[in-house]
Amino acid sequence: MSNHIKSIQAFEILDSRGNPTVKVIVTLKNGVVGQSSVPSGLSTGKHEAVEIRDHDKHRYHGQGVKTAVENINFILGPKLIDLDPIDHQADIDYRMIEIDGSKNKSKLGANSILGISQAIACAAAKACNLSLYAYLGGIGASRLPMPMVNILNGSKHADNNLDFQEFMIVPIGAPNYSEALRYTVETFKSLGQILREKGYNTNVGDEGGFAPQLKNNEEAFDLIIRAIEKANFKPGEDVAIAIDPAASSFYKKNEYDLSKSGGGNKSTSDMIVFYELCLKNYPIVSIEDGLDENDWQGFHTLTAAIGHRVQIVGDDILVTNPEFIQRAIDEKTCNAVLIKLNQIGTVTEAIESVQLCRNAAWNYVISHRSGETNDTFIADFAVAMGGGQIKSGSVCRGERIAKYNRLLEIEAELGKGALFQNPFKGTK
Ligand code: PGA
Ligand code: ZN
Repeated sequence: MSNHIKSIQAFEILDSRGNPTVKVIVTLKNGVVGQSSVPSGLSTGKHEAVEIRDHDKHRYHGQGVKTAVENINFILGPKLIDLDPIDHQADIDYRMIEIDGSKNKSKLGANSILGISQAIACAAAKACNLSLYAYLGGIGASRLPMPMVNILNGSKHADNNLDFQEFMIVPIGAPNYSEALRYTVETFKSLGQILREKGYNTNVGDEGGFAPQLKNNEEAFDLIIRAIEKANFKPGEDVAIAIDPAASSFYKKNEYDLSKSGGGNKSTSDMIVFYELCLKNYPIVSIEDGLDENDWQGFHTLTAAIGHRVQIVGDDILVTNPEFIQRAIDEKTCNAVLIKLNQIGTVTEAIESVQLCRNAAWNYVISHRSGETNDTFIADFAVAMGGGQIKSGSVCRGERIAKYNRLLEIEAELGKGALFQNPFKGTK
């Protein structure tokens, strides 16, 4: 019985927001099955590969993905039958890119193509009797990632008055991954207690962080510092802070509109001054999408000003696209990249993006989306790519915990061979 592909079947399932998404099952002729499902963003970059939705108002308010499912079952899938998935990830991914024929996967959908791409990798790993991280990363894949754990949600991910989308904690002082996770859980619980004591709301947002009404960004930072201390950790030594303002979401008419949180309107240079002040007052190690996705010059100025002290991550501006990343490397636009597989649409292209980062000695962070399933592909992918960073939301909500738990499994599987390092040494 061969390892070759026997069938590729897709279904419509639901993501963590209750929106339809794509699940793909790849079956090999020897009976091995690989399956994967696709996440979905809300604060998406303009240049992301295109996620196809049905726009049929009679189903799921137009959010259905039956077209994407049909594209898999009737167009892409049949053309891949009989191919050998083992060590042919790139061939298969490029074949799908060719069948789609568009520049941004708009014809057949990045959600169709990525679903197959991930499921193919899972099937190939199983057929080789390897864990997914070992198949994708080889025998050197042993570095567990530092988790960037969301603790306060705002902007498009919550119905509160925070303009910044994500306030995260980073357990930089932890000796290993499982301890790192414990640091974040204890800090998260402490924050919950503090919010409760203050009479604040402890409901959570799309990525599992708390979503209270706060006075301003400074209050968010102050509460996080108090939570770190209440959990008996040292801010900046044991646990640091990372933010993803997702600034495109509050960039209006050439200004950054922070009025929701009482900050008024700010220019690009005002924002840079603001981030410099934040760095002075709080132990921040990473700033993602601090400026609008089209503000390449602003990003460059920001990186020149503070990039030696803090990780400047491009998410919406770079959309995991090798062309954009190469430009950013050439122009010194930032110094790190957020890697989201569905922004580019194939495993192979995401690996190419990582390769560019490695060559430029840039950091890269493997990331979830705000709309997730219980799929744990990114946990294995983070270990396989070895960059030492993952962002998978809070330590709350099953679809976020699934990834963190998978990393605990990988850590146990690697045993003494598991590596864990602080990727921010020297930037504190
Ligand atoms: P998204 O947000 O998945 O809604 O795009 C995540 C992020 O901006 O990092
Ligand atoms: Zn982001």
